[in-house]
Amino acid sequence: MSPKIHIHDAFKNRSVISMRDFSKDEILEILRLAKEMKASPPGETLKGKILASCFFEPSTRTRLSFEAAMKRLGGNVIGFAEGSSSSMSKKETLHDTLKVIGEYADLIVIRHPVDGAARLAAEATQRPVINAGDGSNQHPTQTLLDLFTIQECQGRLDGLHVAFAGDLKYGRAIRSLAQAASHFNMRMYFIAPNGLELPQQMCEELKRRSILFSFHQTLQEVMPKLDIVYMTRIQEERMPNAWTFCNKDYILNASMLKGVKPTMKILHPLPRVNEIEPSVDSTPHAHYFEQTRNGVFLRQALLNIILG
Ligand code: CP
Repeated sequence: MSPKIHIHDAFKNRSVISMRDFSKDEILEILRLAKEMKASPPGETLKGKILASCFFEPSTRTRLSFEAAMKRLGGNVIGFAEGSSSSMSKKETLHDTLKVIGEYADLIVIRHPVDGAARLAAEATQRPVINAGDGSNQHPTQTLLDLFTIQECQGRLDGLHVAFAGDLKYGRAIRSLAQAASHFNMRMYFIAPNGLELPQQMCEELKRRSILFSFHQTLQEVMPKLDIVYMTRIQEERMPNAWTFCNKDYILNASMLKGVKPTMKILHPLPRVNEIEPSVDSTPHAHYFEQTRNGVFLRQALLNIILG
């Protein structure tokens, strides 16, 4: 059996919970399929299938791009955008809620504010579950679309110099991406406000994988070396004292882009608050809106390989 067919078999009805569950070859195959989707959508391959879109936390991009991806492939979508409209507001457990939803749908996409909720959901149902973000823990489909975008704009993934700036403690997009990027021997630079640094456990994980990384006070210290700047907002909803964290030193403006590599690109999972000034949007380095557009192609590829 060819390795590609083997990977496709491994994805059939598989849950997507954490980037830790993916091999390098599996990641590369998903990116290849997303590229195919972007070049020419495959038609109504998921006609008759139903996706349950269960969002217990606000979302614009992840929810709507999953729903758009399913509909573009000919499938149907059921679900809710607020947990308060489910019977969990009547004290039904997450386990029972997901077990029931699994009776109605072929695949469940879940976003939840609690770390580990997506894995718990996957244990409650026989249907594949895709983690659309669980607390500060993981956001695997964001990471896959980030890697797709990086590969597309840089022509490769291996050996790139990538800075991660902003809330490195509570940001699940950063955590997932740093884990996955370690498959590609990226050199990582971390820049965070005091108190929002990368958790020790993540540092240990990167060390175990022999990844070169360093911590910096400002983006300017490393800017000329970078291929990618990955910006994030402070995750105010996950901390009781968000007002104590000052992010004025982490605000990217157009004047900070002098002397960078011509090919350097700025990514952000969005939404942004004030960490990238609008003056950056019109520079050739801004790439965050292309990044969010890629979410539909990547999610089409994932739905197709799991359900197709
Ligand atoms: N990037 C991301 O997860 O955005 P949403 O919160 O809008 O889904």
